[in-house]
Amino acid sequence: MMRSPLVAGNWKLFKLRAEAAAFAADLKGGLSSAAGVGIAVCPPFTSIDVLATGLAGSGVGIWGQHASAAESGALTGEISMGMLKDAGATGVLLGHSERRQLFGETDAALADKVPAALAAGLLPVLCVGETDAERESGATNEVLARQVREGLGKLSPTQADIVVAYEPVWAIGTGKTATPELAQAAHAWIRSQLAERFGEAAGSIRILYGGSVKPDNAATLLSQPDVDGALVGGASLEAASLLAIAAAARR
Ligand code: 13P
Repeated sequence: MMRSPLVAGNWKLFKLRAEAAAFAADLKGGLSSAAGVGIAVCPPFTSIDVLATGLAGSGVGIWGQHASAAESGALTGEISMGMLKDAGATGVLLGHSERRQLFGETDAALADKVPAALAAGLLPVLCVGETDAERESGATNEVLARQVREGLGKLSPTQADIVVAYEPVWAIGTGKTATPELAQAAHAWIRSQLAERFGEAAGSIRILYGGSVKPDNAATLLSQPDVDGALVGGASLEAASLLAIAAAARR
């Protein structure tokens, strides 16, 4: 089944608005080098509108890094899916390992967030991945199966308009990239789990790899049959570097 490649940059807690505006101009200027590859950027909330303006008409996605399932309420510090959409976002990362590990994000909470994103008109991007200890103890497949099954547990079989990102926690920000074979095995396993919920439509869901993706290792990772793109942290802070990774994703 045809899946067009998708490369997203997660800025995490980096960049002020002026830096986001400069990035948008650089990215827009270089987009032709990555023709045919979907690109998205996940800025801090404060720069969503800056990117929406700077990248208007470019087709580049703008994803929040996190959101609440609640539409409104006494929830100090939270942001709703509708607010992200209102600010100019087109999608949202859900369950990034840093949210799971540092902020107590649970599979049960994610089960509510995924349909809430769809209802607000945002592309939900569910992040999954095992820790070093889980891989060492042989629990990887079990962990990934649980995160997929529970995180997507409230979607109907026809709600397959989602993206999944596989980010092994031990590969994030460590310079330790998964081998292409290891990434392929995990992606194929995740797709088999998606098929349990979505049947054949699992074949059109894009699964991105994340964890120390750089311009010089992207091509071999992205050449794997079930690796449909990348979710890039550190190497996404410069437009040229994100574009180089996107160019490596061209089929
Ligand atoms: P790095 O590319 O910096 O390892 O980060 C990966 C990540 O967490 C993207 O969401």
